[in-house]
Amino acid sequence: MREMNAVRAHRRGGPEQLVHEKAPCPRPGPGEVLVAVRAASITAGELGWDATWTDSLDGSGRDRTPIIPSHEFSGVVAALGDDVTDWQAGDEVYGLIPFTMDGAAAEYAAVPADVVAAKPESLTHDQAAAVPLAALTAWQALVDHGHLRRGRRVLVHGGAGGVGSFVVQIAAALGAEVAATAAGRDLDFVRSLGADIAVDYAHDRFEDRVHDVDLVVDLVGGPTLDRSWQVVRPGGTVVGIAAPPDAEEAARHGARGVFFVVRPDRAGLRSITDLVEHGRLAPPIDRLLPLSQARAAYEALEREHRRGKIVLQVSD
Ligand SMILES: NC(=O)c1ccc[n+]([C@@H]2O[C@H](COP(=O)([O-])OP(=O)(O)OC[C@H]3O[C@@H](n4cnc5c(N)ncnc54)[C@H](OP(=O)(O)O)[C@@H]3O)[C@@H](O)[C@H]2O)c1
Repeated sequence: MREMNAVRAHRRGGPEQLVHEKAPCPRPGPGEVLVAVRAASITAGELGWDATWTDSLDGSGRDRTPIIPSHEFSGVVAALGDDVTDWQAGDEVYGLIPFTMDGAAAEYAAVPADVVAAKPESLTHDQAAAVPLAALTAWQALVDHGHLRRGRRVLVHGGAGGVGSFVVQIAAALGAEVAATAAGRDLDFVRSLGADIAVDYAHDRFEDRVHDVDLVVDLVGGPTLDRSWQVVRPGGTVVGIAAPPDAEEAARHGARGVFFVVRPDRAGLRSITDLVEHGRLAPPIDRLLPLSQARAAYEALEREHRRGKIVLQVSD
């Protein structure tokens, strides 16, 4: 059996479980493409998600260990499974792999052909790998769940982070008035992404700076999420991405609370590609690390201050 370099975890846990080792190269099943991964990107909290370890989103399914983490990638189509007609070997592609499958921290990944999109030509593979999960989460929060329209007011909590930096840019690109909370040292950064108002979460109260917000996108949870009801207008929406908004609080404020898990979506990814190619969206990359340093990359997600995404370089 052909082997590849991969990062795997043989037991459920945190970054300490990740090993860089040889693993069997996957074969594309019907409807799948085999992608030669050039770069993959990682997300805060993903090693804590049930879907990372089982074949169901709520953890009730079969244990999938050993697992390969990191579900967003950019690469080149290397082979086609049966019934795949829309891609050819050599196509440059990027995408979000369903969380209940092996991810892309490996030289090859078998990916459903219908979740893959053409890589933006203006981005390198390292840059493109930082886009799919964060940008699709942002797109689905703002457009699918938040029903954002031009001129509406949006508050983004955690605007300098991996996902928040995309929420701020996409909200601004869609014509919203954007306020974002971030660390004091990140205020200029979130303004550079398109925030009209930047609030230092450690020293200022966002309740004193924003009000009558149409949509809150919260990437933090806890008290930050709970306090958000005070600034939403009646009929407005709080989309929680780190944690579900309280349904009773939503009812009390005449607002809507939504929690969702990002899903692969080729149409959404094409809209995102369009924003990238028109210069309206750029992936903020905190650092690039080789695949062999995946464990250090995941540790940095938990412990270190960052701006934007951490990308694993898999091959040239
Ligand atoms: N539901 C889904 O489908 C989905 C998809 C993607 C991600 N997520 C979840 O969403 C969350 C965010 O992910 P991420 O990749 O963006 O994480 P991240 O890169 O760690 O970003 C979080 C940001 O929030 C900031 N922050 C911390 N406390 C804050 C506060 N009280 N007020 C405002 N900002 C604060 C952090 O700043 P400092 O650096 O100063 O701490 C950081 O910039 C994670 O819990 C992740 O698991 C869920």
